[in-house]
Amino acid sequence: MCGIIGITGRHTVAPLLIDGLRRLEYRGYDSAGIATLVNGEIQRRRAEGKLINLDTLVEKRPIDGLVGIGHTRWATHGRPNEINAHPHADKNVVLVHNGIIENFQELRQELTDKGHHFETDTDTEAIVHLVSSFLTKGNSPQDSVSLTLSRLEGAFSLAILFAGYDGLIIGARRGSPLAVGYGECEMYLGSDAIALAPLTQNICYLEEGDWVELLPESAVIHDNNGTIVNRPICQSSVSEDPNNKGNFEHFMLKEIYEQPTVIGDTLNTLFNPWKRTVTLPELTFNLGKISRITIIACGTSFHAGLVAKYWFEKVSDVPVECDLASEFRYREARMPKDGLAIFVSQSGETADTLAALRYAKSKKQHTLALVNVAESSMAREADSVLLTLAGPEIGVASTKAFTTQLTVLACLVVATGITKRSINNKQAASYCRSLIEIPARVNDVLSHDQKISDLAREVAVAKDVLYLGRGTGFPIALEGALKLKEISYIHAEGYAAGEMKHGPIALIEDNVPVIVIAPSDELFEKTASNMQEVIARGGRVIFLSDKDGIKKLGRMAAATIEVPTVDSFVAPILYTIPVQLLAYHTALIKGSDVDQPRNLAKSVTVE
Ligand code: AGP
Repeated sequence: MCGIIGITGRHTVAPLLIDGLRRLEYRGYDSAGIATLVNGEIQRRRAEGKLINLDTLVEKRPIDGLVGIGHTRWATHGRPNEINAHPHADKNVVLVHNGIIENFQELRQELTDKGHHFETDTDTEAIVHLVSSFLTKGNSPQDSVSLTLSRLEGAFSLAILFAGYDGLIIGARRGSPLAVGYGECEMYLGSDAIALAPLTQNICYLEEGDWVELLPESAVIHDNNGTIVNRPICQSSVSEDPNNKGNFEHFMLKEIYEQPTVIGDTLNTLFNPWKRTVTLPELTFNLGKISRITIIACGTSFHAGLVAKYWFEKVSDVPVECDLASEFRYREARMPKDGLAIFVSQSGETADTLAALRYAKSKKQHTLALVNVAESSMAREADSVLLTLAGPEIGVASTKAFTTQLTVLACLVVATGITKRSINNKQAASYCRSLIEIPARVNDVLSHDQKISDLAREVAVAKDVLYLGRGTGFPIALEGALKLKEISYIHAEGYAAGEMKHGPIALIEDNVPVIVIAPSDELFEKTASNMQEVIARGGRVIFLSDKDGIKKLGRMAAATIEVPTVDSFVAPILYTIPVQLLAYHTALIKGSDVDQPRNLAKSVTVE
């Protein structure tokens, strides 16, 4: 995914563009660039690598201009270098793009045949030459953009400047989000509200197919038929600068430590403290009539969905399927009458999950988006929405979004059990009590930070690391492995503990670290035997369990981390914290970029 910003107004825009890109850098950081118009002439500055490189370049070679666009890149086509960095331009047009143009090769060939010269390997450059070709035929910028959009296949959000048209920016969106910001004699475009927060709180999100003409004192939005439309302007919920790390060295650590607060905030929106039971916001479907639940997501959000599958089937009598969005969207899944499809996503913009949502809607499913961004595409397109209140998550490795996703899912599970009468009031009250104490218990686990940091030294030198768990501990094993992989670059695998003897145990040799997730629940003894199989072959077990579990087996492990004893229903939320901290500290030792790990971006809005 990439980040886009555009500003047209009364101020020299270059520093404002750079500041906006700083707030968008979490979306992609392979390269960055800005462009402005100075006396109608296109000026560009681009740099490979992190935004600091562009900032340094602009300081050395400043550019003026009261209208400009900027871009942070996560490379899809073409290596992450300066030549492929956005903005892309010819003499008439300069633009930035987030998304993928699927027919760019065909367009490139057509335009090359007409004499256009391409400088880069990117799909984006085809858009530049297409707009330019319509301009040179005498079309207005507006008509040139409209004609271009009708030729593009794929996903895009665009911000475009035109030589000779001072003050004008044209923006467009199809499949990648784009917001319009309303200022005082100044107008803005941004990939999200975070980018625009210091400039304005008055935000309107373009809808699919919309394009907009911005001048310093006006915004004219057209729908995909070219009809002028009004889109609601809302007050952005992003106020303070989320790019403030406080006293933490990294966003990821700050966001790990925010979990007690944001889990509590999320619980407060789903809980009636007087009745001490779950109270969900209005849903567009009757939970009692749901025949089957399909949970669809990617990455960490998929792991949250997996935990919920175990919960739903234990607490309610609803059959549940959980699938990766990138697989689900193409397998022509059969979907039942009165089925509910739940889409779990921090960003609410992940392309595969959004496409899966659209498929489920085409199959007449009730759709529920469980997202962290209220204005996201999934929130707008699903029938119902449940929000995590994690606040902006800047670290690419998802942490607080995951545990608040689990919190919302746990409440949804309890509400389903009550509605379906598969649990009685006493059982529901017990689940609610266990949920209410989670924020405090998470704080208890955070107190082990130093011990986990010490253990990370052993993990940091490993070539392979295994994570094992059973039941709801299995998705946490997957999550722990993903966290370690994506920020420390160490190969790690999460496995169902019972699966080890079917092959993976061949990986065990002296000193292979094996993180075993084993709360004292009904599966503890089974997991214990798998742990002993590992130890017998030289594996070094880091044992995550509660007081009883450690009393029984702790002495066999190379190290233990004690997690507070809680109801097994909420154990997966709690056991996530140590694996997050272990990944964080290991990455610190390895010296990798914890908040912006290589090759990744915060939200993948391309396939
Ligand atoms: C999580 O640490 C990863 N950064 C990644 O797997 C992420 O969970 C996935 O891309 C899904 O993103 P979403 O929740 O915004 O849909």
